[in-house]
Amino acid sequence: MTRAPRALVDSGALKFNLAAVRRQAPGARVMAVIKANAYGHGLVGVGRALADADAFAVARIEEAVALREAGLGNRIVLLEGVFEPGQLPLAASLGLDVVVHSREQLEMLEAAALPRAVETWVKIDTGMNRLGFRPEDVSQVTRRLAGNPGVAGPPRLMTHLACADERDAGTTDRQLQGFTAAVSGQPGERSVANSAGLLWRPDSHADWVRPGIMLYGVSPFAGQTGIQLGLRPAMQLLSRVIALRDVRRGERVGYGGTWTAQADSRVAIAAIGYGDGYPRSLPSGTPVMVRDHRAPLAGRVSMDMIAVDVTALPGVCVGDAVVLWGQQLPVEEVASLAGTIPYELLCGVTQRVGVTNV
Ligand SMILES: Cc1ncc(COP(=O)(O)O)c(C=O)c1O
Repeated sequence: MTRAPRALVDSGALKFNLAAVRRQAPGARVMAVIKANAYGHGLVGVGRALADADAFAVARIEEAVALREAGLGNRIVLLEGVFEPGQLPLAASLGLDVVVHSREQLEMLEAAALPRAVETWVKIDTGMNRLGFRPEDVSQVTRRLAGNPGVAGPPRLMTHLACADERDAGTTDRQLQGFTAAVSGQPGERSVANSAGLLWRPDSHADWVRPGIMLYGVSPFAGQTGIQLGLRPAMQLLSRVIALRDVRRGERVGYGGTWTAQADSRVAIAAIGYGDGYPRSLPSGTPVMVRDHRAPLAGRVSMDMIAVDVTALPGVCVGDAVVLWGQQLPVEEVASLAGTIPYELLCGVTQRVGVTNV
């Protein structure tokens, strides 16, 4: 018996999107961002599908450990570096690249006795004010790293764009100019672009691009889908109908009775809810696909179930597939109805939803 709900993840689509990244940034190497369980797509499966990437990027050392345990020998960059000194020997023995974004991390590296030298990336804050050194401190930081026998080769240099997804040219210009000035005269490769930078600002490509969302076939830009950008959505979230009921005109459906049948209607109950990551904030009317047709959500999303008005779709049966997002129903559209971004919906698919690689 197959699990319902399930997230089907299309390895062919992931590879197709990686090829699209390479076409878009032909001069750059690709660091595939597969943190947060590969944006909900399954860390190891995605790692295997994207094994041709030049490196992987993760946020937590546990994610890197899982990739190594699965036998993936690719270069892996820890985007936030290590969180405590005890993680440094593990990072070194696993051959991980560590980002150094703070004085504390610099000092941890200086105090560590490592089994082998680690590759480093210095993160520079060019305006996001989240992580990174101020531009004026960069030369001192790189000097200290270069003089550290625990550090292999010249540190690489990176920054992160705060507003590229909004196509905010002013902010992006200022960040790019700030980065160029901060790294001028420094050896070491450079990396700036996330998916939005990669797609919209060729001048941000540098030596390494760091796409995340576009590898999954999803757009970083509001109001535009991955499909419209020539990408292939990799995830299809699906479940199935577990019950059907006929409701009479005037009867109400679900918690709070927020949906009222305007005429005698047929409602399909599907096994998916906010306990699976299908957000409760979705309003009645949100489309889901039943039998390859769109049908509207009726009433509130509950923990394990939703109700769908299938009155206009005769022949719906218990067991029929219900697609919550995928190729025919872009996750961008669903996210916008939920008042959020597709990143959050994809990462929010919960553990009880099995990922099946197809
Ligand atoms: C430092 C860094 N680089 C790259 C990315 C990839 O961003 P996107 O998924 O928008 O391509 C992220 C994601 O949050 C990130 O934190």
